Amino acid sequence: MMPMDAPGHANPYPWYASLRQQGDLIYHRPSRCWTGTTAHAVTMLLTHSQSRVRPLDQPTPPPLGQGPAAILFSLLMRMNEGLDHRCPRQALAPSLQDCSALEISRETRRVCTAVLEADGHLELDRAMFHVPVAVVARLLGVRPNLGHRLPTLTADLAAGMAMEADGPAIQRAHLAAQELMWIFTQQLSTQQEPEPLIRPDTNREAGSRIATPKMAANLAGLLLQSHEATAGLVGNTLVTLAQRPALLKRVRQGHVALGEVVDEVARFDAPIQLTRRFIAEECELLGNRLRSGDTVILLLASANRDSEANEDGERFILGRTERRCFSFGIGPHQCPGESVATIIATTTAQLLLQFGRIQPEQLQWHYQASPNARIPLFRQSHRLVSARQAHQAPVTPSHTSQEAP
Ligand code: HEM
Repeated sequence: MMPMDAPGHANPYPWYASLRQQGDLIYHRPSRCWTGTTAHAVTMLLTHSQSRVRPLDQPTPPPLGQGPAAILFSLLMRMNEGLDHRCPRQALAPSLQDCSALEISRETRRVCTAVLEADGHLELDRAMFHVPVAVVARLLGVRPNLGHRLPTLTADLAAGMAMEADGPAIQRAHLAAQELMWIFTQQLSTQQEPEPLIRPDTNREAGSRIATPKMAANLAGLLLQSHEATAGLVGNTLVTLAQRPALLKRVRQGHVALGEVVDEVARFDAPIQLTRRFIAEECELLGNRLRSGDTVILLLASANRDSEANEDGERFILGRTERRCFSFGIGPHQCPGESVATIIATTTAQLLLQFGRIQPEQLQWHYQASPNARIPLFRQSHRLVSARQAHQAPVTPSHTSQEAP
């Protein structure tokens, strides 16, 4: 198997286990990439001074050319090192990390209700992709009259940035980038009342020095980062419940909080299975000589199951006391949206279950082909809720230990 095929494979975990047997960092000849298979290798590479997030000679993917999607891409913290990474991160990460769990959960419910009012029903695959982006847009304070376009624009941008994108997909990505930049530039130039829950901290030295296009691109970047990964976490949670009838029963009876399940799903069946790094200068790593320009694939999903990091790593165990989860990365580029993502995923999954039109045990799925994300697509179109049900039923966040109402 090629590492890039693993996230969309029905069960890549035996293959990951066999790679771990071969070593921490192995050269995978068919893909001509180094592959970090263990917790040790992933930790070392994600924190190493010679690791770069982009190939040295390609700050942006060549197929994007010089258009708006390439410009947006080039400004993202995720795709930069040094000051161009640190400044937007310092301005945005604290606000993401401090965002109130209760508010995130409330916004998730509001988004679902708004979709119901517009469409009369909510479908499973659409809910997984649409809800997280729409919630983050609301947390960023985007007005509903603009916000309703954001999930589609984000999907178009993500599709055009993917390795396998064709000409028409890239064209749609340029149009989406243009519109997203316009929306967030407007957003940044308008005084907003009440203040958005997630906002750039311009009082910090770093924040005050960031030009508007860079900040606008990084706000759009939050939607981009939320899109597939959070859909994967919702979907993998439903798959986990579908495969474990006893656990599903305990969740339905209220004996197990869904938030606990989501925390272990994030480790056990990672929504982002791998990430990549590029070596800046020749160096010795874990007994291997890596050369400038070499590509290293870091198998986050394999590191999660490494028994050196998590005892009995191949077993799904709720309430692990010292869970080590690599799914959100580590080091300077570690995901600042982990708690936002986990709360959105928990509330969305809870909402989907609570309205009861889906029976997880009856779900059928296959995995979306993706070089890094693991996202189940459910075969049937499951019509989930009617607008009346959604308005009436209370949804309680199960992942909100951090604050009182
Ligand atoms: C289940 C959902 C999510 C997963 C599994 C996930 C995973 C990750 C991973 C693995 C990285 C690091 C990539 C690398 O170092 O190569 C990352 C970075 C990032 N994530 Fe997430 N993410 C999720 C949701 C979110 C959400 C909801 C947001 C924002 C609202 C977000 C914002 C970011 C940002 C801004 C970065 C780049 C950070 C930097 O470069 O310093 N993520 N994410």
